[in-house]
Amino acid sequence: MFMKNSALLLLASFCFLCLTYKKQTANPTVDPPEEILQSAASFPIGAALGYNLLKDNVLYKEVVSREHNSVTVENAMKWGNIHPAPQTYRFEQADFIADFALARKKRIHGHTLVWYMSNPGWLKDFKGNANQWDSLMKAHIQTVVTHFKGKVAAWDVVNEAFRDDDGTLRVENRDTKPDKDNGCIWARNVGRDYLAKAFQYAHEADPNALLFYNEYGQEWSTKKTQSILAMVADFKQRNIPIHGLGLQMHIDINTSNDGIANAIRELTKTGLKIHMSELDISVNPKNEVNFVFTEELKQKQADKFKFVATTYKTLVPENQRYGITHWNVGDADSWIRSFMKRQDYPLLFDEAYQKKKAYFSFLEALK
Ligand code: XIL
Repeated sequence: MFMKNSALLLLASFCFLCLTYKKQTANPTVDPPEEILQSAASFPIGAALGYNLLKDNVLYKEVVSREHNSVTVENAMKWGNIHPAPQTYRFEQADFIADFALARKKRIHGHTLVWYMSNPGWLKDFKGNANQWDSLMKAHIQTVVTHFKGKVAAWDVVNEAFRDDDGTLRVENRDTKPDKDNGCIWARNVGRDYLAKAFQYAHEADPNALLFYNEYGQEWSTKKTQSILAMVADFKQRNIPIHGLGLQMHIDINTSNDGIANAIRELTKTGLKIHMSELDISVNPKNEVNFVFTEELKQKQADKFKFVATTYKTLVPENQRYGITHWNVGDADSWIRSFMKRQDYPLLFDEAYQKKKAYFSFLEALK
């Protein structure tokens, strides 16, 4: 009798345990796992990260930890930040972002070694001949690339070398405002071949890193696209290492779909990796005052994000898909608000890091 009772008790406790265990664990057939960008896509999905946001904003960190598997450093690797004085390199902010990414096994995309913008005052004032400028550029590239060797998977070696209007190389300043320079100190001082030199120097410092040329506006400037193609052909002929092309994709809800598709199609022909490197989709491109982000605009933005993801998947062969990177995370973090000074909502998450309509349509298109 005693044996029978204890056996019954044992059985009852076992059943109870089974039931509570079942209650506590998610049942995949009943509760499908939450869908996230990085697992929906067959290629990396990135975000450009700001140092202060990552350091101070828990929600920001949470969203990136969960959704993205590639990280671009939005500003901390640019000359002005990383090399603020002739003998001073400041790596702390870029290291902080890189450590965050490495700890979570996310790819790090380096941005950017050579650019006509974001250069510190001391550099703009530097006086020297072509050889001295060349040495300066080489030392910078190799110091930065060596510092991140083995951590940074790929670099935007040169950013925005070609002009908006005629697609020619930026050299002399054509801006009439005295404080603006849309020419390029590198082309002026090192010479027009600074592009090839920069790639060569980066390759010497880290032969395993993939090297990208990054540019905006290919979707509306076929002249820029042609210049990029000519540059790639020239590099190939001279054995200058280049592995990828970045299309920044700072677009808006009215950007021509044909323009986007044509740019991707043309650049893909190079056989290089294609990175949508700075995607954001503006909904208030004309900077209207008292702008309202209506349901209609939300839908248009969602449709455009869907088009971008679908077109990337359709036109870029799998082995050329380096990934799609969003230029920051929540609408309030976007450079369009801070730098362009526009009331806009260009990203996948809103100010409170809630997923927007655009998020869901982009996610669906990735699958
Ligand atoms: C922007 C950053 O997002 C801003 O925070 C900064 O003030 C200026 O630069 N093309 C590029 C990026 O390649 O480096 C730019 O980033 C946006 C345009």
